[in-house]
Amino acid sequence: MAKVTYIEFNGAEHVVDVAEGLSLMEGAVQNMVPGIDGDCGGACACATCHVYIDPAWTSKTGTREPMEQSMLDFASEVKENSRLSCQIKVTKELDGLVLRMPENQY
Ligand code: FES
Repeated sequence: MAKVTYIEFNGAEHVVDVAEGLSLMEGAVQNMVPGIDGDCGGACACATCHVYIDPAWTSKTGTREPMEQSMLDFASEVKENSRLSCQIKVTKELDGLVLRMPENQY
């Protein structure tokens, strides 16, 4: 398990335990964290799981794959620390991770 803090655009925090092997998107959806939709189910085909990784954690979450990058081209308000949360698998190393959600996913 890894403790992940999801912070909504309005500042509401949701601290949830996410099982290793799940994606950050699945961890949000399974725990009913609002602000991450995950419309395509994690196939890297919708960009409705867009999040901002806290800068303190970007070195642990890795970098965008080309397919993720091309989906992010369709997302709004993309920043340097933008990621698709379905493309990040939860591991022990991500225990304590903090991420924020954009104002909307569409
Ligand atoms: S859930 Fe569709 S791209 Fe992440």
